[in-house]
Amino acid sequence: MTSWINKSGRPLSSSEWLQIHHNAKINERMHFAKKILQSSPACIVDLGCGTGLWLNILDKIASANCHFIGIDGDTAAISKAKEISQNWKRSHEFIQSDIESSSNIPCADMFLVFNMFSYVNDSLNFLNSLHKKLNKNGCVVIRQYDEGTMRFGPMDNKERFEIEMSLFTALSDSNMFRHYDIDRTIQAISASDFTQKDIEFDVFEKRSPYTNSFKHYLDETINWNAQFLSETARNLLIKWQEKYVATPNPEQSYFVEVDLVATLS
Ligand SMILES: C[S@@+](CC[C@H](N)C(=O)[O-])C[C@H]1O[C@@H](n2cnc3c(N)ncnc32)[C@H](O)[C@@H]1O
Repeated sequence: MTSWINKSGRPLSSSEWLQIHHNAKINERMHFAKKILQSSPACIVDLGCGTGLWLNILDKIASANCHFIGIDGDTAAISKAKEISQNWKRSHEFIQSDIESSSNIPCADMFLVFNMFSYVNDSLNFLNSLHKKLNKNGCVVIRQYDEGTMRFGPMDNKERFEIEMSLFTALSDSNMFRHYDIDRTIQAISASDFTQKDIEFDVFEKRSPYTNSFKHYLDETINWNAQFLSETARNLLIKWQEKYVATPNPEQSYFVEVDLVATLS
């Protein structure tokens, strides 16, 4: 079992985990990338770019003269991103730096802030610093997950609450990251200096039988959750995993997750 911590100590950020997550959602990510490129930005800055997987998708569809900048605090992630981007034809750079320090953020037509708020201490200050760095007619695109909007089943309701409460008790006060962060993010967006604040929710859903890449993601999500649970909750979760994921011909199951998607300008 692994906690998927990267070298700079951020949970759910190791390059292996980012790749597993990416593979499971590749079609949905491509769909989202096409949607955000409709505004034809000349410079995209991905804040907390990890290993550059989102920019790698955008590279396939953005105009050839759109400049890409990826910024991440983790040296190993930046090295991997440089490796992944070796064959890109466009101008691009990957910078290792702390994005909470506004002097490290360049100007851009589009900032991507994907699953980053969990690690940001002062979300409002962070957003207002992006507001100052945004070029005319530019926008900030936010995606944010929240454990509270993730569900898989079918599962007995009492068993579900036992598992969810146990996970919430273990992770809600973590000083490493905020695993339940959609509401704090929405509050920061509401209070921010942006004049246009479009908020939506993006549903990601899968029903069995699953592809190998999604099954891998589901399995690892369950294993990751299990390590934080009480013994009772862990046994319930593992029993579910054995019945619906681990057996050769499992019964029908589903997975659904709702992400916050916001566009600010
Ligand atoms: C969960 S990953 C998200 C990666 C990518 N945005 C995605 O959605 O696949 C979070 C990333 O943010 C980076 N990170 C967290 N806090 C940071 C900070 N203050 N400055 C720069 N990078 C940071 C981590 O190193 C990690 O690569």
